[in-house]
Amino acid sequence: MKVLVTGGAGFIGSHVSKLLLDLGHQVTVIDNLSHGNKTSIDKRAVFVDADILHQEKLEEILPGHDAVIHMASLIEVGESVKTPVEFVENNILGTVKLLQAMKNSGVKKIIFSSSACVYGVPKKLPITEDDPLGEQENPYGITKTTMEEFCKLYNKLFRFNVVILRYFNPYGPGELHNPETHAIPNFIKAILEKKPLPLFWKGEQIRDFIYIDDLATAHVLPLNLTGLHIYNVGTETGVKVRDAIKIIFDLVGYEVETEDKGERKGDVASLVASAQKIKKELGWEAKVSLKKGLQKTIEFFKSLPRPFSI
Ligand SMILES: NC(=O)c1ccc[n+]([C@@H]2O[C@H](COP(=O)([O-])OP(=O)(O)OC[C@H]3O[C@@H](n4cnc5c(N)ncnc54)[C@H](O)[C@@H]3O)[C@@H](O)[C@H]2O)c1
Repeated sequence: MKVLVTGGAGFIGSHVSKLLLDLGHQVTVIDNLSHGNKTSIDKRAVFVDADILHQEKLEEILPGHDAVIHMASLIEVGESVKTPVEFVENNILGTVKLLQAMKNSGVKKIIFSSSACVYGVPKKLPITEDDPLGEQENPYGITKTTMEEFCKLYNKLFRFNVVILRYFNPYGPGELHNPETHAIPNFIKAILEKKPLPLFWKGEQIRDFIYIDDLATAHVLPLNLTGLHIYNVGTETGVKVRDAIKIIFDLVGYEVETEDKGERKGDVASLVASAQKIKKELGWEAKVSLKKGLQKTIEFFKSLPRPFSI
């Protein structure tokens, strides 16, 4: 298939593009490089330095593609509280322009990167896809629920084939956000630098950490689906953040102090996916253990020049 990946210079998009290419698909990456790195884009992909807000450009590029995997987004929750207008414009308007451009170009399949954040504070664990969406605590979450709604609307109005993937907590090599607010890369960087490890909620939160290679596979399996489908992408295993830290300490062979950062507003206590639906319908399940995934992530960060910005 010929697949257009928006945000393909980013952490997740670069892995998904590489997997698609390894499987023999053709890939076009669109990224404005506001946050991604050009060097992360696989050389086999066609790269177009473009913004999804530029609808005319999208309509030049889109014809001939079979599907779009839409990952371009501003993602940092704290930034979204400071600059909600930018988030609404980039994420919501950008998604609507992309959908319109797809409609005008006759490309009617989209796989959209959503997030477990759409569930708000979960009513029960593990979370299933038919659980109600929750109240949002920040503009980023509102952009994700709204982007989902627009994808669903284009299914209803224009018979788009839509797959919404709700990621739980992705981690792995190549995660180089700036600023980085995600736990695993920040822990590993602090530990490798032998600096105090920044810890919210004393590490008591429970998360479902999904390794990047497993997450990437979940984008390829639904490429042939028609209709509207929503899937959680998680391991179905809840891990206390402090237990994940302990695994990293064991893997590197030493410990560092923790820096108590208190409670971070808007964080939910526990997030664990039910992945039964994607398993039953697509045969997908997470294969990489947390220990193995963390080992590979540590190796990646060890290979980078220092010092890290934490
Ligand atoms: N990383 C996570 O923990 C996580 C969790 C849940 C959902 N998601 C979603 O997954 C997707 C990818 O996340 P990521 O971690 O790879 O983020 P990332 O910041 O590494 O990648 C996003 C990419 O989108 C590009 N981009 C942003 N706005 C653009 C625009 N207007 N036009 C063109 N390109 C633009 C950026 O330059 C960047 O390369 C996002 O939609 C995010 O909301 C991520």
